[in-house]
Amino acid sequence: MAAAAPPFPASAAAALLLLPLLLCLSGGCNAQTPVFACDASNATLAAYGFCNRSATAAARAADLVSRLTLAEKVGFLVDKQAALPRLGIPAYEWWSEALHGVSYVGPGTRFSPLVPGATSFPQPILTAASFNATLFRAIGEVVSNEARAMHNVGLAGLTFWSPNINIFRDPRWGRGQETPGEDPLLTSKYAVGYVTGLQDAGSGAGDSLKVAACCKHYTAYDVDNWKGVERYTFNAVVSQQDLDDTFQPPFKSCVVDGNVASVMCSYNQVNGTPTCADKDLLSGVIRGDWKLNGYISSDCDSVDVLYNNQHYTKTPEDAAAISIKAGLDLNCGNFLAQHTVAAVQAGKLSESDVDRAITNNFITLMRLGFFDGDPRELPFGSLGPSDVCTSSNQELAREAARQGIVLLKNNGALPLSTKSIKSMAVIGPNANASFTMIGNYEGTPCKYTTPLQGLGANVATVYQPGCTNVGCSGNSLQLDAATKAAASADVTVLIVGADQSISFAKSSDKIAAILWVGYPGEAGGAAIADVLFGYHNPSGRLPVSWYPESFTKIPMTDMRMRPDPSTGYPGRTYRFYTGDTVYAFGDGLSYTNYAHRLVSAPTQVAVQLAEGHACLTEQCLSVEAEGGHCENLAFDVHLRVRNAGKVGGAHTVFLFSSPPAVHNAPAKHLLGFEKVSLEPGQAGVVAFKVDVCRDLSVVDELGNRKVALGSHTLHVGDLKHTLNLRV
Ligand SMILES: *[C@@H]1O[C@H](CO)[C@@H](O)[C@H](O)[C@H]1NC(C)=O
Ligand SMILES: *[C@@H]1O[C@H](CO)[C@@H](O)[C@H](O)[C@H]1NC(C)=O
Ligand SMILES: *[C@@H]1O[C@H](CO)[C@@H](O)[C@H](O)[C@H]1NC(C)=O
Ligand SMILES: *[C@@H]1O[C@H](CO)[C@@H](O)[C@H](O)[C@H]1NC(C)=O
Repeated sequence: MAAAAPPFPASAAAALLLLPLLLCLSGGCNAQTPVFACDASNATLAAYGFCNRSATAAARAADLVSRLTLAEKVGFLVDKQAALPRLGIPAYEWWSEALHGVSYVGPGTRFSPLVPGATSFPQPILTAASFNATLFRAIGEVVSNEARAMHNVGLAGLTFWSPNINIFRDPRWGRGQETPGEDPLLTSKYAVGYVTGLQDAGSGAGDSLKVAACCKHYTAYDVDNWKGVERYTFNAVVSQQDLDDTFQPPFKSCVVDGNVASVMCSYNQVNGTPTCADKDLLSGVIRGDWKLNGYISSDCDSVDVLYNNQHYTKTPEDAAAISIKAGLDLNCGNFLAQHTVAAVQAGKLSESDVDRAITNNFITLMRLGFFDGDPRELPFGSLGPSDVCTSSNQELAREAARQGIVLLKNNGALPLSTKSIKSMAVIGPNANASFTMIGNYEGTPCKYTTPLQGLGANVATVYQPGCTNVGCSGNSLQLDAATKAAASADVTVLIVGADQSISFAKSSDKIAAILWVGYPGEAGGAAIADVLFGYHNPSGRLPVSWYPESFTKIPMTDMRMRPDPSTGYPGRTYRFYTGDTVYAFGDGLSYTNYAHRLVSAPTQVAVQLAEGHACLTEQCLSVEAEGGHCENLAFDVHLRVRNAGKVGGAHTVFLFSSPPAVHNAPAKHLLGFEKVSLEPGQAGVVAFKVDVCRDLSVVDELGNRKVALGSHTLHVGDLKHTLNLRV
């Protein structure tokens, strides 16, 4: 019977199928060519000094600057960089985003039929919960491969304004999911890992960049809109101690250890000065103290905001002048292109200040290969659409979600067994979430695996939304249907949202287990199923404190980290908060259990002060955390960790320290963490190298790092060890 099919329609169908394929091959499907300067096939361009690939980036940038008029220069101060046809320089859009995958949020990057989506990883808050620095970097590497692949076909820029490393200080911000959480050390390690993964162009690549990352928003930025207080006009009042102890360390690590190519200043003011006009914070700290190798960008459009919203300067020319002189190099927005020429003509700014700014921008583009001709003939030139959304990239997105998911409560119900569970009711407004799973600063994902789909791949499911939104504003018919579905199933999984209070769930007997899954990215549903059914033993730990509702009594705008007992102000984050928590920083359960034993750690550490040091003759509470006495002042802590249960798993060992109570120091702070994989019964030794001045120091009231003398307590889980630091 099949042979009876008429041949003609069959071949017509084949022709129809072939046609779009041929169109793609001949430049259809939105195929694009990349943007680049210094086309090597043009002899005029190839002869320019700024196109000379043998010269240093600084020499090439100087050559380029020398060829430009002032009017041309200011076109290189803004994210929509103007084209300069006479020198063969095309327009370039600096603003692209890659918070957890290549994103369409910045205008420099878009998807098309040629590259319809990119791998969407969990939001950083969930990735951070893995406490796995190898993973942070691995994700950055995949994202930069996909970014370069898209750049080669004209769909993406080379400068990505990610990651967001603001400290997650208050859950009401609404953007905490973009960050690695509340701890400065974890945030620093995340920044270094992710930035290195994005930027590292490989061994032997010298100063070259694969893509340029950007740590933002500098600094003390985490109020977007609270009771009418807007980020555009908020003045963050921050003590020098909190600034240097909490808000700055991730940025410092990002620049000093991560060698990031950019820092973005924020909208807000810090102690009365807009950050993008603050010479101390930009030129002084980022470029002076930390030696940024790269450019400082504004948020979009902070310079306009400091003039029009904050009325910080009298004229727009003053705003342009003060921000460039403070150390700003690039303006997201158009303000500097509009007002900088007039500012120079009015003598508010010298042309050499403009030269400095565009030189930093040019050098960054040179390190990226933008002035080296066609990127398809350069390193990473072979990457193309087939390198985006590969199965291994998508598997890493699933792996990242698995590693981050936190088991908060388990009365023994988990893991589920497919042998005993034959039916599952999946309930909740997010039970079949797709877009919601990937969160904000998103791109189009390769595909989605929703929770319902992930669970349904393992067991028969009945799905009832129960409510239409996370607040669960009543619809009794929907609720009845959900209750019925739950009653007839072997197990019920409730998938609720971020704004649902969970204090009741923690203590309720009816809720057998709780998982926190953050915004788990495109493969979130598969990862949830992996954990629920025990294909993956959960190992994530909370990177933030979960406060009770009473926390909302304190004003979000109060930036103080430290508690104030005289007014009942409770302080913020596990390092300072003195009240009860629903769940604490570092909480997270496993399907197995681990035993720790201290193998070795010193009980006495002596600090050798230089002759004549005041603390040799008089009693001191602390000594400076820099200077000769800090050299080689380090010791090892060795711990034995054993998997004492019946299933294999990964385990994060946290090393905390409680310093002596001087300088209003944190009650405890994280010194280090290491994650180990252990089979059932297996034991391993985890070693921490503790550098006394770096790791045991605290920041004093003036912002100086000090090492307290006296009794320091090290904690690992319930283990406590005291060591005495003396002169
Ligand atoms: C390119 O720069 C190198 C290093 O400075 C120099 O030796 C060489 O002469 C330059 N080439 C041209 C064509 O100017
Ligand atoms: C080479 O580039 C210059 C500057 O963009 C342009 O004016 C000229 O027409 C180009 N020459 C060729 C042969 O394309
Ligand atoms: C769940 O979501 C997926 C993807 O958006 C959709 O294809 C599917 O129809 C949904 N399933 C149900 C039962 O609504
Ligand atoms: C950390 O992440 C990497 C990359 O996914 C993985 O290979 C490794 O096993 C993880 N480490 C632990 C201890 O889970």
